Amino acid sequence: MTTTANEPAIAARGLTKSYGAKQVLGGIDLTVPPGTVFSLLGPNGAGKTTVVKILSTLITADAGELSVGGHDLATDPRAVRAAIGVTGQFSAVDGLITGEENMLLMADLHHLPRAEGRRTAAGLLERFDLVEAAKKPAATYSGGMRRRLDIAMTLVGGPRIIFLDEPTTGLDPRSRHSMWGIIRQLVSDGVTVFLTTQYLAEADELADRIAVLHDGGIAAEGTAEELKRLVPGGHIRLRFTDPAAYQAAATALREVSRDDEALSLRIPSDGSQRELRSVLDWLDAAGVEADELTVHTPDLDDVFFALTGGTGTPDQTTETAR
Ligand SMILES: Nc1ncnc2c1ncn2[C@@H]1O[C@H](COP(=O)(O)OP(=O)(O)OP(=O)(O)O)[C@@H](O)[C@H]1O
Ligand SMILES: [Mg+2]
Repeated sequence: MTTTANEPAIAARGLTKSYGAKQVLGGIDLTVPPGTVFSLLGPNGAGKTTVVKILSTLITADAGELSVGGHDLATDPRAVRAAIGVTGQFSAVDGLITGEENMLLMADLHHLPRAEGRRTAAGLLERFDLVEAAKKPAATYSGGMRRRLDIAMTLVGGPRIIFLDEPTTGLDPRSRHSMWGIIRQLVSDGVTVFLTTQYLAEADELADRIAVLHDGGIAAEGTAEELKRLVPGGHIRLRFTDPAAYQAAATALREVSRDDEALSLRIPSDGSQRELRSVLDWLDAAGVEADELTVHTPDLDDVFFALTGGTGTPDQTTETAR
């Protein structure tokens, strides 16, 4: 009836959606194993919220085989709704009533008996550090508190799968870290998290798998490490303080790119131990001793810009690595 161990928590095949003549999703495939965090990345307008809305039954797809929690979205949306929780990109908190009242309203929507609703609300307010604020109108909350209340409300029905659409946008670093802690806790309780984010560091930090949505399709999908391997840009950087040593090294190592101003040399490298060792051997053989050696592996920003054709491609690493 519900998800079994090896059945995906979320599966989409050929997910298609257009608004009028504009196609937003051109037949995408997604698979999210239970108890994992899946992060959907993409530039503004790529269709992330559209995917979340479709998978959480708020709007319908034009085509595609979609299942959530083992239930078919087309034939059994009620069962899907019972299995999931959704925190939208824009807050569902009612500012005119208190945090506690917002929670109790959710408990009513989930038809929890009164006493159980109160217990659940109290437990979640505690867990999200909102006990002190619980009796104040939510309109007086800071952005971080409002976001925590939003997620607490999502959890009232005890969903096994939750959709978080940009849960940390606009939060300060401390609130963002506390939200990451909350998400990790959910996952360790076995909840499946489908997360969209603008912050690549967030996907890097939390997600088991990441998909980059671009131009109506999935431009790349994999673990953060797999995605990083897709783009060139990994290198070893040698820095010198003595210009003469720099010149000697630059002459000895002709295949490197130079930065004469910073007195630094850059050697393409995938960052693996084997390659690092061979580079070190090569440096020894050439009699090069740098003052500083750093290994740069491409980060998700590099991947994002490379895949979505943005302008922020990291300097000339693309040429130097080829
Ligand atoms: N109800 C709608 N009617 C018409 N077009 C829409 C509608 N909702 C979204 N769109 C369009 O669909 C595209 C995808 O929108 P969506 O909100 O899914 O993007 P997003 O990836 O969530 O963007 P953001 O990062 O800004 O939140 C956009 O071009 C948007 O203008
Ligand atoms: Mg969105």
